[in-house]
Amino acid sequence: MRIVVERREALSAAADVVVSGVFERSEKETTFPRALEKEDAALKGAIRAAWDRKELKGKRKELTTFHTPDGHHRIVLVGLGPRERYDAEVVRRASAEVVKGLKGKAARTASLRLPSFAVDPVGSDAAVRALVDGTVLGAYEFLKYKSTTEGMVEEATIHLGDEFSREEAGLKKAASEEIALADAVVWTREIANLPADTATPERLAEEARALGKDLGLKVTVFDEKKLAEMKCGGILAVGSGSAHPPRLIVLEYPGGARRGRTVAVVGKGITFDSGGISLKPALHMQEMKFDKSGAVAVLGILRAAATLKVPPRVIGVMACAENLPGGGAYRPGDVVRTFNGKTIEVVNTDAEGRVVLSDALGYVVAQYRPDEVIDLATLTGAQVIALGDDTAGLVCTDDKLANGLLAASAATGEPIWRMPLTDYHRELVKSEIADVRNSTELTIGGMLTAAAFLESFAGASTTWAHLDIAGPAYTTVSTRKYQPGYQNIGATAFGVRLVTRYLQSVVHP
Ligand code: BES
Ligand code: ZN
Ligand code: ZN
Repeated sequence: MRIVVERREALSAAADVVVSGVFERSEKETTFPRALEKEDAALKGAIRAAWDRKELKGKRKELTTFHTPDGHHRIVLVGLGPRERYDAEVVRRASAEVVKGLKGKAARTASLRLPSFAVDPVGSDAAVRALVDGTVLGAYEFLKYKSTTEGMVEEATIHLGDEFSREEAGLKKAASEEIALADAVVWTREIANLPADTATPERLAEEARALGKDLGLKVTVFDEKKLAEMKCGGILAVGSGSAHPPRLIVLEYPGGARRGRTVAVVGKGITFDSGGISLKPALHMQEMKFDKSGAVAVLGILRAAATLKVPPRVIGVMACAENLPGGGAYRPGDVVRTFNGKTIEVVNTDAEGRVVLSDALGYVVAQYRPDEVIDLATLTGAQVIALGDDTAGLVCTDDKLANGLLAASAATGEPIWRMPLTDYHRELVKSEIADVRNSTELTIGGMLTAAAFLESFAGASTTWAHLDIAGPAYTTVSTRKYQPGYQNIGATAFGVRLVTRYLQSVVHP
């Protein structure tokens, strides 16, 4: 999708479709909204007529199409819902509904009328960014394996009109920043959607190397031999049942200042999670190709961080392995020794995410002494039960970091909810025969005992945040209809916009 910003009035452009937003009418509202007068004039009163007969209601997801008298152009009105509940997320969703609704409708170009979306409390800058997100992400589909496709909008122009033409320079800058971010999200989805036969740990390493080359980032890949030398017994154990050996991948973005802060971003990269010897049931197992979403999000975050030149230095770590029950697989009862010397009693081979992350966290903390560590992982089914599949679980014992992430969440519309971590959870992951165990005797509070396990590898004195993205990392045919229009079926790249936004807010001491 190409996005352009133009001063010219949308209605005088030659696009296939002109798009305006319309608020939901309240019961007692009888007068025709003044905001639609220009559109109505272009259509010789057709919009007013639709309003009068209550065909046009302005409800969310409502799309009403009008054809110009010459038959060559269309005006699409998208419902924005109640005026008093208007925010940037409404714009993101509405613009996604528009591009989805125009799919297969011979609309190659669309002109979006900014004045109809930049309405209090959504300023022009926020509206432009939300329109970019909604159209780019809403238009995304995973088409690699499709032989036939229906035409999608290819070019969307945001028209400032007389109302906003004076802000042209600022709004163009906002758009180009947001386009870079949305492009990183689309790129992340393309990789996260790849099936496990293709997206092996080595393939993810290749993607990281290619990205590094593109953006001038240092990339280091530790293969199984090197991991053995480093005594990374966790990631090696998880990968031992697969013919595709594990990789620990490190990317470094140097940061905007010479002596700034260092933030490490660590991702779970299980290219396929069969459960291993503790095999999962067959139903929905195909979804476990998305168990690499945290690591792939790290790739996307590094791409966005380097493109947008965020202030802090960022270290990205991807812990990649395939969890299969091959002849060499690790088993329940095994005890593995990880990078920092701590031992894990393996109780359940399906709790493998925390095992690969133990080495990744131990390594990045020892090697880089980061000021902050943020991990992203499709870690537990318990997260999905607790928060559903739109909201990620945040576990963080540092209020400043937690509040920074919550603020980024509010700004990007990627929902997260903070959950507690106490000695109760820490107690549950203690082992009789090793330092910790990877699964507990009581199957309660699963998202939080998993976090307690990770904390023991990040170190209690490290400023660390854990994002359990098991639910929001992907959507399926059945969950898709409850998700915003800009989340396609498949990988969502959840966390890329959120964490990048957070990194943009990290200031130097
Ligand atoms: N990859 C799964 C978690 C998951 C579940 C991700 C659903 C996405 C959707 C993880 O490795 C896992 O299997 N966790 C177990 C842990 C348990 C054995 C302690 C779980 O949540 O059941
Ligand atoms: Zn698992
Ligand atoms: Zn897993």
